[in-house]
Amino acid sequence: MGVVKLLYKAMFVLKIILVVWPALNSGDINHTTPKEKSWTHSSSSFPSNFLFGTASSAYQFEGAYLADGKGLSNWDVFSHKPGNILDGSNGDVAVDHYSRYLEDINIMKSLGVNSHRFSISWTRILPKGRFGGVNQAGINFYNNLIDALLLKGIQPFVTLYHNDIPQELEDRYSSWLSPESQDDFEYFADICFKSFGDRVKHWVTINEPNTDVRNGYLTGQFPPHRCSSHFGNCSEGDSQKEPFIAAYNMILAHAAAVHIYRTKYQKEQGGRIGIVLNTMWFEPVSNSTADKLAAERAQSFNSNWFLDPIIYGKYPAEMEEILGSTLPKFTSNDIEKLKKTGLDFIGINHYTSFYVQDCMYSPCKSGPGSSKEEGFCPTSSKRNGVPIGEPAGVVWQSVYPQGMEKIVMYIMERYNNIPMFITENGYSEFNNPNFTTEQFLNDVKRVKYMADYLDALLRAIRKGADVRGYFAWSLLDNFEWTDGYTTRFGIYHVDFATLKRSRKLSATWYKQFLAEQNVKALMSKHNGEHLQF
Ligand SMILES: *[C@@H]1O[C@H](CO)[C@@H](O)[C@H](O)[C@H]1NC(C)=O
Ligand SMILES: *[C@@H]1O[C@H](CO)[C@@H](O)[C@H](O)[C@H]1NC(C)=O
Ligand SMILES: *[C@@H]1O[C@H](CO)[C@@H](O)[C@H](O)[C@H]1NC(C)=O
Ligand SMILES: *[C@@H]1O[C@H](CO)[C@@H](O)[C@H](O)[C@H]1NC(C)=O
Repeated sequence: MGVVKLLYKAMFVLKIILVVWPALNSGDINHTTPKEKSWTHSSSSFPSNFLFGTASSAYQFEGAYLADGKGLSNWDVFSHKPGNILDGSNGDVAVDHYSRYLEDINIMKSLGVNSHRFSISWTRILPKGRFGGVNQAGINFYNNLIDALLLKGIQPFVTLYHNDIPQELEDRYSSWLSPESQDDFEYFADICFKSFGDRVKHWVTINEPNTDVRNGYLTGQFPPHRCSSHFGNCSEGDSQKEPFIAAYNMILAHAAAVHIYRTKYQKEQGGRIGIVLNTMWFEPVSNSTADKLAAERAQSFNSNWFLDPIIYGKYPAEMEEILGSTLPKFTSNDIEKLKKTGLDFIGINHYTSFYVQDCMYSPCKSGPGSSKEEGFCPTSSKRNGVPIGEPAGVVWQSVYPQGMEKIVMYIMERYNNIPMFITENGYSEFNNPNFTTEQFLNDVKRVKYMADYLDALLRAIRKGADVRGYFAWSLLDNFEWTDGYTTRFGIYHVDFATLKRSRKLSATWYKQFLAEQNVKALMSKHNGEHLQF
């Protein structure tokens, strides 16, 4: 017992050093190193002050697509074109969160979450980007939403851009293909910080730029629907160049927004700012060196593509090696800006894992991921016909909870344990028209998924990962982009005809889980087990 106490004391001192040292070096992006950090967690529960929440995004939830002066977004225009959305639907109404936000906040309150993640519709605030006025009704809506959340003790965790850009910017200068997009994003971010930053303590600049760029400019499935014929069915585009140009502009748009926050708002408002990436765990299909390298490359061509420049001021080495001059070069000014602005946290969206096979040193048949632009590392959900995990309700999702632990450890090690949030994690279910509502409500597979993924997350935290929150995707069934309403991700069921919300088993489970966390946190506080600040 004495030894244990001594150990705790030593850890306490170490923790103070670890907490104070980076603060003394503000602007330095090098945080605590993983090894030291692993000493500080010995608790059996999630850290105190952990954010547990639900997640949403504007286009998938709000509807009211032309209400109160809102302008048209790229998704409004894209979803209205026949053939773009699997079930011919759109987000005009979505789940009408715009009118029903108070009811939805009551649902969150009933779950016991302490945080909620949502995004701001750019065109509600700026119907025409920089090329028009500010829409006060849009500002009012988010003020009301934020105030109503805070009134119930729920912290807003706010994303500025979640796939929906003003169509005006697409029409004027091809949105993310032009460096002008950086100025528009900075302008939009500034207005949001100024209007809401007194109450918002967690900001995300961009949600999943890696998905947005891939789907918008490589495969062309998302707006602006641009790609080469080898990659998809678009009337215009260049999959070999444009994804990298759009990514470059997004990275610098992110940096511009962070710069504005750091220089004009952060000191006074006291919040934190980060970015959210879509992450997957890539398991080498064999133990060969070539396949292991392919799994590394897959990470580099997916999320490291954005995180490395933002954190280290350069592209991943594998991308440089394979793509060379195709990658837009960061000027010394860009690098200076990137290094100066940095990142307060990494947001991790994580749903699934894949096997990865080498296609660079070994001959193999083409498939998703096999192109040079994707790093010669095709992915598959199966090995020798055996799935990596049970398939869920969308083609890309397999249940592989170990992937959560592995990806968090990977990101922790690569980026020196910068604070992380799991900004999305959830289970998709096919919206089978033959199902009764009761069948959807009994979502035992979603319960198992959440329980197993949270367990895996806790294992990573015990090994020292500085993870500070978890947001379940999603609070409600909603509009799933090009899949329309054919898949359900909610812990609450939505009848898409009547918009009635009904609690699923997973919501009941999450409520119970959160109540248990609170008890554990209280108990460990009494036992002096928690050393969190
Ligand atoms: C962070 O620290 C590690 C270990 O001390 C070092 O190798 C790495 O270069 C540092 N990174 C930056 C960006 O300073
Ligand atoms: C490609 O798009 C065109 C125009 O939208 C459509 O007519 C055609 O059927 C599509 N081809 C494929 C293979 O999907
Ligand atoms: C790779 O090696 C590990 C450790 O020896 C082993 O557990 C695993 O099954 C191997 N994987 C494959 C695909 O052969
Ligand atoms: C729904 O039921 C009908 C009639 O039994 C069947 O033909 C159809 O395949 C079912 N649809 C799905 C998606 O299971």
